Amino acid sequence: MDVANSIEELVGNTPIVKLSRFGAALSHNLFGKCEFLNPGGSVKDRIAFHMVSKAERSGSLRPGGTIVEATAGNTGIGLALVAALRGYKLITVVSQKVSQDKVKFLQALKAEVVVCPSGKSIEDPEHFMNRARAIAESQGAWLADQFNNADNIEVHYKTTGPEIWRQTEGAVDVLVVGVGTGGTLTGAGRYLKERKRELKIVLADPVGSLLADLVQGKAGGRSSSYIVEGIGQDFVPGNFDLSLVDDVIQVSDKDAIACARDLFAAEGMFVGSSSGCIAHAARAYCGKTSGAAKNVVAILPDGGRGYLSTIYDATWMAEKLPPSQ
Ligand SMILES: Cc1ncc(COP(=O)(O)O)c(C=O)c1O
Repeated sequence: MDVANSIEELVGNTPIVKLSRFGAALSHNLFGKCEFLNPGGSVKDRIAFHMVSKAERSGSLRPGGTIVEATAGNTGIGLALVAALRGYKLITVVSQKVSQDKVKFLQALKAEVVVCPSGKSIEDPEHFMNRARAIAESQGAWLADQFNNADNIEVHYKTTGPEIWRQTEGAVDVLVVGVGTGGTLTGAGRYLKERKRELKIVLADPVGSLLADLVQGKAGGRSSSYIVEGIGQDFVPGNFDLSLVDDVIQVSDKDAIACARDLFAAEGMFVGSSSGCIAHAARAYCGKTSGAAKNVVAILPDGGRGYLSTIYDATWMAEKLPPSQ
């Protein structure tokens, strides 16, 4: 029978789709890697299964144990799938910025959700990452720690990068990617650069994040709040290898959200705000790059259903991003 033995087998091997209409006016070829088609709806299923499997093998996660993770939602959703399949308890720690859709989704998947105030600095004990560490320590639980866990990078090095290489038959020239933890950029980017030295990696960064400045060696900037979820930071995550980045494109909330809508209108792809941000950056990169036609692959990290009460809600949008802005 042509069947999978478990949903785990359906993680990864996501398709790449040519964005023919979205990128119609460009002199380069634009493609989207559809990470939103993973079983849990995001790129994070890859790291959830891999980090847990490695922790089981090393003995740091025991049968029936508790997993704790600081997440923008998607890693929590991926971990909830693993927890259901393998019998773990899951505590997720999110910042208040995370959409109610994702919080409800996590709760429906049997995860406990601890919500921390947003806008706290990384030194503050109330920052969601510090709360997660404290909860894990107090409960003797395993902290997945996607921001520093090397298995996050490893799974992208072993799967996402090779998939892009194989699917494009080595013809990929540019990878456009956002950074939340840096796992996707560092793992897939490192693999692809090892195969093709001249390949360019473009960081798509929301306006308000400090990563663009930090990559360009500018210190002392101030972060500000922005709507796009899952990417951008005010510190350099342990899993982000800055040296891999060749170019940075900063994207406003307005452009990111407009682009998420464009992806549906043009391609029938219903995606989240980080995909809009990355697709906008990819289109902008193509627009400013001359010369022979290049093959540009944009990672589309998650789908739009986690944002029904935010960027896809007209009332919410009118309040957060009035048309005059
Ligand atoms: C919606 C979304 N997009 C993109 C990313 C970034 O991926 P990475 O953590 O591999 O940098 C994340 C995760 O942080 C995310 O939740």
